[in-house]
Formats: sequence, C-alpha cells, structure tokens
Amino acid sequence: MKNKELILTGFETNEFMFIAHRGMKSEYPENTLAAFKAALHMVPMLELDVTFTSDHEIVVIHDDTLDRTTNGHGPVNLISAVEIKKLSAGQWFHPAYALETVPTLREVFELTGGQILINIEIKSIVSKSFKPAMEERILQLIKDMNIEDTVLISSFNWKMLENIRNLNSSIRLGLISNHVAAHNALPFCQDLQVFSWNPCHEELSQDQVDLMHTEGMRIYAYTVNSPKDASKMLLMGVDGIFSDQPLYLKNVLTNV
Ligand code: G3P
Ligand code: CA
Repeated sequence: MKNKELILTGFETNEFMFIAHRGMKSEYPENTLAAFKAALHMVPMLELDVTFTSDHEIVVIHDDTLDRTTNGHGPVNLISAVEIKKLSAGQWFHPAYALETVPTLREVFELTGGQILINIEIKSIVSKSFKPAMEERILQLIKDMNIEDTVLISSFNWKMLENIRNLNSSIRLGLISNHVAAHNALPFCQDLQVFSWNPCHEELSQDQVDLMHTEGMRIYAYTVNSPKDASKMLLMGVDGIFSDQPLYLKNVLTNV
C-alpha cells in the first residue's frame, strides 16, 4: 500500500505501522530534513524530537546537547536559533549530509505537513520559564499549519501531556513509558484521554496489549530494529513500531 492511501485513512488505519524513528536514523542523519524527506511516501508516520533554543525556537533534535549530532558543543537550550542554524547536523553521519542543519519544527511541517503522520516527541529538558510555554507554541504551530488531524504529540513527561490536554481537548496524545506496566500507565492514559500508549517493546506482554486495546488505546512500541522483535510485536497485535530501519523491517515482514 502506498503512503498516500495510508494517509487517507490516517491514524484510524488498521494497518500495522512501521514508524520512521527520528526520520530513518539507520540510513539518514537523525532528525534532519533529509531523513524526513526520505520517509515521505515510504512509511505512514515519522517520529521526531523537539526542544527549545535559548530564544525559544522549537527545534528538532534528540539530545539535550549539540555534541553527538552536530559540530557544535553544549546545551541546546543555551544556543540561539540563528547560531544553531550555522551548525551541520549531518556531517557526523556522512560528509554527503554536511549541509543538513538542525530543522525547526516549522520547517519540518512545511516540508511534510499533511502528507505523512507526524509523532512529535517533546523532550523533558524544556525550560518552564518560557512564556508562552512550549506546549502552547507547538499547538499554535500545528493550528497555523492546519495539520491537527495528522499529528500525535507524545512525551515521557506526562505533566506536559496534561498541559496540552488542558489547552486542547481533541489533539491526539501519546503517553510514552519506560518500565511502567500497562495497568499502572492506564489511569494516566484515561485521565489524559490519550490516543496511544507508547511503551518500550522489551516490556510488552500479550496481557498488556490486550488490556490497553480493551480500553481503546493504540499501542506504538519503541524502538524495534530486529525482524524477530518486529514479528513478535505484529503477532501480539501491537498497532505500530518505531524503527530506525522501518523499510527493511517492512520488507522482511511482508515477505515471510
Ligand atoms: O517515542 C519513542 C522513542 O522515540 C523514545 O525514545 O530516546 O528515541 O526518543 P528516544
Ligand atoms: Ca523520540
């Protein structure tokens, strides 16, 4: 099935989703426009991570610091939007991607918005002193771009999810957990009226999948990179997996 058809059914599809984690980080420099462009028309959903610069620009980068994925140094929240744009976010991966920069969330939306489902993971480092807060800024940007129906906002920081739910009653939320059993996550999922529970795949059991499905949650498990683990998720009835190599896994699983 082509991605265009998947987008037509959107989040409500019953297709098992191969989600491009940070773009497709095995094949492209993570969280760059090159990675997101590659995911377009190839997978139904991409995942990205957002945080703030010192002057409150929403930027797409996984780590709290610049060091691993750029040629800069130090905390992301201490660099300005102008200065971060001078860094390469692709050179570390391969010289062919030297011109890739740290994208703003707006740039990603402009490139892909409405053409692919987007899971925005808000990182916890975000400063609470910024006004308006990160949550409000992200919601406003989504509204401005008119892509409410194609985004899912997730976080390990459940307080941030609560803030978003208080600001917007209909936006899709995903509660990410790590070492939290389904029955413990469930009350929070219900309170926040989340669309999905996003657990670590290593913790999942059939009972937990069944419980969350009975309660109406989708389950997107992270981060699955081996055919064996992907097959296990598929057989348990999980709705999708975040993968660094979604196309490889899709190819393996659909050709068995
Ligand atoms: O949202 C799932 C996954 O992306 C969470 O882990 O560290 O890759 O952001 P991480
Ligand atoms: Ca992430």
